[in-house]
Amino acid sequence: MAPKVLVTRLLPPKTQARLLEQNFELIQWKENSSIPRDVLLEKIQGVDALFCLLTEKIDNELLDRAGPQLKVVATMSVGYDHINVDAVKSRNIKLGYTPDVLTDSTADLTVLLALGASRRIKECIQAAENGLWGKWGPTWLCGTQFTNKTLGVVGLGRIGEAVAKRLQAFGISRVIYSGRTKKSEQVEARLNAKYVPFDTLLTESDVIVVCCALTKETENLFDYKAFSKMKRTVVFVNSARGGIVLQDDLVRALEENLIGAVGLDVTTPEPLPPTHKLYSFPNCLILPHVGSATMETRENMANMTLENILAGLKEEKLPYSIY
Ligand code: GLV
Repeated sequence: MAPKVLVTRLLPPKTQARLLEQNFELIQWKENSSIPRDVLLEKIQGVDALFCLLTEKIDNELLDRAGPQLKVVATMSVGYDHINVDAVKSRNIKLGYTPDVLTDSTADLTVLLALGASRRIKECIQAAENGLWGKWGPTWLCGTQFTNKTLGVVGLGRIGEAVAKRLQAFGISRVIYSGRTKKSEQVEARLNAKYVPFDTLLTESDVIVVCCALTKETENLFDYKAFSKMKRTVVFVNSARGGIVLQDDLVRALEENLIGAVGLDVTTPEPLPPTHKLYSFPNCLILPHVGSATMETRENMANMTLENILAGLKEEKLPYSIY
């Protein structure tokens, strides 16, 4: 009997075509929006494999609804804070994700945010589009540059390292980082990076990039106290998860001019409603969670997720496994 597989979105074209070639009893949500929770809870019943995105919460309720035949859950994302990993593991269900493949695209976008925020790109575009482009002026729309500046990376993993490497090419002369653990000498040597306490990173960085996972330890890590310690000119970029920042405190920090410029690819909630206060700051650049959004990367992510599903259905070790 063909295995029953639930896929929660339409996939990028090549992987979608590959999906349709499989001998699956396929249930697929094809709307241009994430699958509503009640529909997911209904469709999950009796499936052997779940192909999901970061928009779906994978918790006990969902796993109970699925039933004991569920063999594999594969998320098309590198982050997995939307999944109750213990709940999946305790049921002996295999769990896959998509590491490495989105490092370059996400690092590119993080750099784009850092450059965009520091060069006041939002105000520049608005000025050009709204007829505010006056005569060239010596200080008009001047931002800051990275030459001889200090970069603070919060979470020097794959993406953090790729961001630091890129920003060094833009003139960053010193890289400091904080996180759960000090990295190997090899990693530190590649960037000439130094492990520092979180407070040192806050006070000494000209540019701060958040590249860590959202965990109990990093949730709300950036609060008013943290923003207060930063340089008044700091460029603060978060391309990891919205939950790492206490967003109301970020709004307060911007209102009080405690920080120089902000670039966000992630917020709480997502989507961030267009009326949200954060949009009102000219020095706050916000993108709609598009870190990995290149066609090449998304095809790769979808394909890896399909590989995980195929291996899980065969009761084999997943090629890209969380545990
Ligand atoms: C994107 O945010 C991902 O986790 O893949």
